[in-house]
Amino acid sequence: MTKKFLLYSSPIVLMFMAVALFEPWIYRNLITSGEIDGRLKGEHFDIIAHKGASGVAPENTLAAFELALDMGVDMIELDVRNTHDEEIVVIHDETLDRTTDGTGIVHDYTLAEIKELDAGSWFGNAKYAGEKVPTLKEALDLINGRCQVLIEIKHMDHPHYHDFAEKLIDIIRQEKNGYDWIILQSEEVEYLEAAHEYDDHVKTKKLMIGEDSTPLLAFYIETKMHLGRAKEDDRMKALNPEFHTLSTRRVFRMHARGFQVYTYSPNEREEMIKMLHMGVDGIITDFPDRLVQIRRDIEAL
Ligand code: G3P
Ligand code: CA
Repeated sequence: MTKKFLLYSSPIVLMFMAVALFEPWIYRNLITSGEIDGRLKGEHFDIIAHKGASGVAPENTLAAFELALDMGVDMIELDVRNTHDEEIVVIHDETLDRTTDGTGIVHDYTLAEIKELDAGSWFGNAKYAGEKVPTLKEALDLINGRCQVLIEIKHMDHPHYHDFAEKLIDIIRQEKNGYDWIILQSEEVEYLEAAHEYDDHVKTKKLMIGEDSTPLLAFYIETKMHLGRAKEDDRMKALNPEFHTLSTRRVFRMHARGFQVYTYSPNEREEMIKMLHMGVDGIITDFPDRLVQIRRDIEAL
């Protein structure tokens, strides 16, 4: 009897598992519209420039931030790392190679050495040649509350990142009304907890692992885990998942537990519109100008 039951039920169980795993694909490719329609009328969403307007200017430079401000974004996302002399610079990778003319690990260089580098020429547009790697302070001083800022704290597994969240908060405190417009986000919940322990005024968002870098199953488990702990920990006001991992149902479940959902980084108009139909609260994109246009098109409905 048990054998027969297993034999007949296993295809059904497998089918449910497949649907659960491929749910985001099914929603994105078979269910959700990539067209603007009346259902989006009146919907509020935040436009977040990923590493500044990084589709049209070299990422994480003052030029990319200024351009994003010109486009009228609500928020700028940027990434921070430590230099050898414990200064905080705005750069995505652990190494200098991809986005500067330098080579090697960021933390092996002092700020003065990093300031010698060209962080613009790699982008291939002569107008950005000679752009510098900015310090966090320079980036925040430039933005100066004209839009919100989402600071991503990169990987935890470096001894030199000790007290990193605390150092960021010290910089945030130097900005006028910094707590109102600067938010910390990280995949590493420990950083966010350390930030709250140091100063409970700081706003944080939990970045979720993405399907691009981890198996879908891992994302699924992490989603479950964080949805489960939402009640105990109300300080992480948003979950920021990679856009390939979302479905309308998942966004609904995150909302039901009191989280906002900011997704990264759809760059095509159709993909952005699909995310809006799924109900996300914000989109982190390399091409914020495209999202600004979508907002205008929705307003014109
Ligand atoms: O803000 C989320 C997003 O920036 C995370 O991915 O690799 O672009 O930093 P990454
Ligand atoms: Ca980032």
